[in-house]
Amino acid sequence: MCGIVAATARREVSEILLEGLRRLEYRGYDSAGMALIDNEQRLQLHKYQGKVAALEEAQTLNPILGCTGIAHTRWATHGQPSAANAHPHISGQRIAVVHNGIIENHKALREELSDAGYDFVSATDTEVIVHLLHKSVSEGNTLLEAMRSTVSLLEGAYALAAIDTHSPEEVVAARSGSPLVVGVGIGEHFLASDTMALRQVTDRFIYLDEGDVVVCSAAGLAIYDDAGEPVQREMKKISGDVEDADLGDFEHYMLKEIYEQPHALAATFAKALDQKVDDSVFGDAAAEVFAKTRAVQIVACGTSYHAGLVARYWLEDIAGIPCQVEVASEFRYRKRVAHPGTLLVTISQSGETADTLAALRHAEPGEFVASLVIANVDNSSLVRESDMAFLTRAGIEIGVASTKAFTTQLVAFLMLALVLGRHRGLSPEREQLLLDGLAQLPELVKQTLKIDPQIEAMSAAFIQKHHALFLGRGIQYPIAMEGALKLKEISYIHAEAYPAGELKHGPLALVDADMPIVAVAPNDDLLDKLKSNLEEVRSRGGELYVFADGSAGFKDEPGVHVLAMPHTPEILQPVIYTVALQLLAYHVALQKGTDVDKPRNLAKSVTVE
Ligand code: G6P
Repeated sequence: MCGIVAATARREVSEILLEGLRRLEYRGYDSAGMALIDNEQRLQLHKYQGKVAALEEAQTLNPILGCTGIAHTRWATHGQPSAANAHPHISGQRIAVVHNGIIENHKALREELSDAGYDFVSATDTEVIVHLLHKSVSEGNTLLEAMRSTVSLLEGAYALAAIDTHSPEEVVAARSGSPLVVGVGIGEHFLASDTMALRQVTDRFIYLDEGDVVVCSAAGLAIYDDAGEPVQREMKKISGDVEDADLGDFEHYMLKEIYEQPHALAATFAKALDQKVDDSVFGDAAAEVFAKTRAVQIVACGTSYHAGLVARYWLEDIAGIPCQVEVASEFRYRKRVAHPGTLLVTISQSGETADTLAALRHAEPGEFVASLVIANVDNSSLVRESDMAFLTRAGIEIGVASTKAFTTQLVAFLMLALVLGRHRGLSPEREQLLLDGLAQLPELVKQTLKIDPQIEAMSAAFIQKHHALFLGRGIQYPIAMEGALKLKEISYIHAEAYPAGELKHGPLALVDADMPIVAVAPNDDLLDKLKSNLEEVRSRGGELYVFADGSAGFKDEPGVHVLAMPHTPEILQPVIYTVALQLLAYHVALQKGTDVDKPRNLAKSVTVE
């Protein structure tokens, strides 16, 4: 999704901006640009459709230089990907702006500005902002005043950074609904959509609040709240993790992140073990909140939503607590009725997903006993705005298709089921079984990674296919959904998941030799039922790819390809089978030659609705 980088310093900043954009590439984008104020106080601009590499090439051939600048990677919302629609947008050769978010009233503003004589050169919603800023400074206002009056006219979500050739040492920025952080250097200041973009220049960050407007120069920083009052916001020092962003020996981040899972899972669980998987793992208020929790409402998007679907099985089975799960984009707009005593649990790798954040923000007063977020990024908006937070320790996840974040979310949910279960009579024996299982998990994932060559061999059968069906039963159904999502995200093969028992209510009509059927088949209570469902597929000529426990009794035969999975305690099966399906998607995509880490049209962090 769109990424912003800005800098104001006593040194030349174009390389800082470019490096920032490179570090934001993982978020997903389709065009990139930057604008600088040169030492003759003129606006200099490069912007191109495509990768940041195009910008770098332009910079090599025709460098633009300056000590104050803004840069952007754009993920198209209004207007197709093109150089004209790329940011920065400029007005009157004086103002340049970059924007992340969506301005909902842009059409009305565009008409007013056109009537006032402004010519529009792009199809974006953003262009109204730059002309509004220009109109205001032309009336004699400072860039700060112009920013304040402009944002008061905007409806929607935005993070903005603007520069003005008449105040060449300043960057003025604002945020509402889209993330923006200030990076504090020594005698220099930066802004970015996330801290990753600036880790090469600073480890000190200020997270802006909703409605904040900020004026940065090399020498100083002034922050104003939504009422226009000067405010101080806490500065945080961030440690570690910079090297995690390196690929090392791996060809792709996704593969690296799949292979990091044993470590990520152990780290997430270790955090809890220090505290003996106590309520407090979920925050200081957790003991009190969990004592009055009678139901759980989980809200999330994408892969995180699938983690919620798995969690429902655990929360109802282990903790005996009613649980509902919903995608955030639906939940946020629905008239809802929550059971008394419902705990709202949001899940988000990034902690910035717009719909999930809106679901939290729009919770009615008194609707929930409290809000808990399971997130992977500390200081993210969801973490800051929830009553309680559990941070997974997946480390930075760069691949757009989420892998290690998902499995660490599952570990977090097993722990949540365990602590909520304790409040509801979970037996010490079952609790011990869970703890032992969690301790075994990293080793079992390592064993699963060892069957990577067999999965790679199996993947060849998928590359000519246009569709695939994933089947599971019980808790393996959401795992089948996650497997299908991984495959469609990165290989562009249309993949759907079905609970195997639903086959004959529709999808069986699609089954023929051209439709590979992937079955998630650990040896669980539903195995015999699943086997009957798979027979139905076989007898219609469907080609089966079965990920099965050795004891499940599947054999390789014509039309049935079995992948022998490590024998796994039932409670850990969702994690183990997920890892295998991640590898399947990866190898299919690799052979198809798609952009595995940055699949087309997708973004890592979806900060607009
Ligand atoms: C995007 C990403 C997915 C992710 C989803 C939710 O679609 O590409 O990988 O699962 O957003 O993101 P979150 O950060 O809230 O988990």
